[in-house]
Amino acid sequence: MDLEQKIADRSLKIGVVGLGYVGLPLAMEFAKKGIQTIGIDVDPWKVDSLNAGKNYIQDVRDEDVAQTVKDGTFYAENHFESVPDMDVIYICVPTPFTPNKEPDISYIVDSAENTAKGLRKGQLVILKSTTFPDTTEGVVQPILEKSGLKLGEDFFLAFSPERIDPGNKLFTTHNTPVVVGGVTQRCTKLAADVNRLIIDEIVEVSNPKVAEMEKLLENIFRSVNIALVNEMAALCDRIGGINIWEVVDAAKTKPFGFMPFYPGPGIGGHCILIDPYYLSWAARKYDFQTKFINLAAETNEDMPYYVKNMIFREISMLPISIIDAKVLILGVAFKRDVDDTRHSPALRIMELLFEDHVQNILYNDPYVDEITVDGHEMKSQELTPELLKSVDCVVITTDHSVYDYDMILEHSKCVVDTRNATKNAKVKKDNVVVLGDGLN
Ligand SMILES: NC(=O)c1ccc[n+]([C@@H]2O[C@H](COP(=O)([O-])OP(=O)(O)OC[C@H]3O[C@@H](n4cnc5c(N)ncnc54)[C@H](O)[C@@H]3O)[C@@H](O)[C@H]2O)c1
Repeated sequence: MDLEQKIADRSLKIGVVGLGYVGLPLAMEFAKKGIQTIGIDVDPWKVDSLNAGKNYIQDVRDEDVAQTVKDGTFYAENHFESVPDMDVIYICVPTPFTPNKEPDISYIVDSAENTAKGLRKGQLVILKSTTFPDTTEGVVQPILEKSGLKLGEDFFLAFSPERIDPGNKLFTTHNTPVVVGGVTQRCTKLAADVNRLIIDEIVEVSNPKVAEMEKLLENIFRSVNIALVNEMAALCDRIGGINIWEVVDAAKTKPFGFMPFYPGPGIGGHCILIDPYYLSWAARKYDFQTKFINLAAETNEDMPYYVKNMIFREISMLPISIIDAKVLILGVAFKRDVDDTRHSPALRIMELLFEDHVQNILYNDPYVDEITVDGHEMKSQELTPELLKSVDCVVITTDHSVYDYDMILEHSKCVVDTRNATKNAKVKKDNVVVLGDGLN
């Protein structure tokens, strides 16, 4: 039976390589629909957890993992031996950068090489990891062709980027449109048809490079706009008397041609911080400097330094030296209401404080029990009035919705608010400085 037929009668077997924030929700969508799904991950802890019916991703429902494992529509492995049994293989592995901020696509290469070993006729491989243009055709395709099989005839290949927004309850996998670009027209059609089994709207583009570039455009669009508003926030603080948060709220009343972005302590997560570097690296091969994109990345990366200076300024007004000051960081996840700390600006701020000899740093995050920063192993402290009273400076780095900002303001000596989280607090706010409010 060919792949078209298996898709039509839903008898296909799905493989998902990389069971993280992207791969596990995807695998669950197929498994919940009764489609046989096998997950592959190099992390034995993840594989064991899933096979025991235990979930570890916030956006995935615990009962979905337990039920699909029980029903036998999902199981996980930490090897690639089942690849020949799969009809479609999604690759959802990390694409980090090196310490020099160059793309590290070694996880994609490793997954493709392991997939190639078991590749057989009739299979479709869909790369989902965000990466620079020409990774699908220039890197993955030659690796898969080492199997001796011919692309477009024996096997099929497409790029279909992920758009999951962790923590977003409104837009999840099935109602977020997905872009698909196959190496051949049949590759595109097959990848679109498979995605259509779990996603309402599929957007087909001419080839994988378009799909790779559009994903980078989406994320760089955010990076550039966040950088713009961060720069304007710093300018508002310099001029004085202009509050950037009020400025953005006023601007967003324009019903067309404007989309609000807000300042903050920097950008984090596995995407928006990293992706501009993927494109600027790829552009250099063509003697092209992505000046605008680089400037945005630089501006955003300056924000943790800006916040560190805000903290130092506040501490300098207290009868205590920087070295002895006790600082409490509120929120170490990279954004509100998630548990993901990858490249979180809060961690960068803590690193900068440690580097500048602030030794008494504590943190609270309702979603993150422990972290290691600059070699310091730390545990989340219970957020109590006593804790707030015991520290010299409280820094709101992530505006989790569960925080009681009135309680925080009421019991703190001084608060540095990098997210305008205290905007609606009812208690007196004379102990708060807000990034970009023009009063710093
Ligand atoms: N997290 C997001 O919100 C998001 C959104 C859109 C796109 N993306 C992109 O999706 C990709 C995956 O991101 P993520 O957040 O899911 O990463 P993640 O780190 O949460 O998950 C990746 C998983 O892949 C596994 N893995 C690593 N190497 C492997 C290999 N060789 N074989 C099998 N498994 C392997 C890891 O153990 C991990 O469980 C990245 O390219 C990222 O940029 C992420």
